[in-house]
Amino acid sequence: MKVTAIHSRGSKGSTYFIARLLLDELEKQGAEIIEFSVQSASPCTGCFNCFMRDEKLCPHQAENAPKIESIESADIVLLDSPCYGFGMSGQMKCFLDHLCYRWTAHRPHPSMFSKIGIAISTTAGMGAGKVTKDIAQQFFYLGIPFTFRLAFSIRAMSWSEVSEVRKEHIRRKVTATARNIIAKSGKIKPGIKSRFMFAMMRLMQKRNTWNPVEKSYWQTNGWI
Ligand SMILES: Cc1cc2nc3c(=O)[nH]c(=O)nc-3n(C[C@H](O)[C@H](O)[C@H](O)COP(=O)(O)O)c2cc1C
Repeated sequence: MKVTAIHSRGSKGSTYFIARLLLDELEKQGAEIIEFSVQSASPCTGCFNCFMRDEKLCPHQAENAPKIESIESADIVLLDSPCYGFGMSGQMKCFLDHLCYRWTAHRPHPSMFSKIGIAISTTAGMGAGKVTKDIAQQFFYLGIPFTFRLAFSIRAMSWSEVSEVRKEHIRRKVTATARNIIAKSGKIKPGIKSRFMFAMMRLMQKRNTWNPVEKSYWQTNGWI
């Protein structure tokens, strides 16, 4: 079981700490963990090369290719982000913008349809649930059919300020989630929503006269 984890803030912060607790639990069960940080993610320049030509022509190819390749070869993908202004961190969004060419509407990677996603967020007060929902939506559009979501209001600016009672609640929730992830690993199949989305995009690609790169990708995969 290979897990690729992409952290918003390197190895800092409460969100990272909780992600690490979960990764430790998965590691105990024999998972191989590969970690990246998007702390200094470059913003997409909007050149459209990834959609219209080749992702290798992205000006940030060297920065993102190792992360994207690791995601594609993983069984489980973890993305974490603190809640900033009721949304995910700008760094995580910058990274995810570089994955839009891999959405089901464009050139989905066949391996995505059997992966598990994990979305983790913390907030001081409110908004962590919104962040994990947004990350889960990104997973869905990438073709990942199932996402575990861990959202915590920690009432603090740093992990050291979090109360012991809250830390214990978080640890218990993380351990239970790790157990559920292990139980589901290797058994993921696209659900009705994912299959419907794929069918709609298949219809669209059949009629595609605007992007020969995408059309030929769908043909090469035998999907149209
Ligand atoms: C720029 C910025 C924006 C924030 N926005 C919110 C917010 O909208 N709602 C909230 O409850 N907390 C907000 N916070 C607090 C963080 O979400 C919270 O402290 C979180 O646990 C930090 O996670 P980290 O330690 O992993 O960075 C914000 C913090 C920062 C630095």
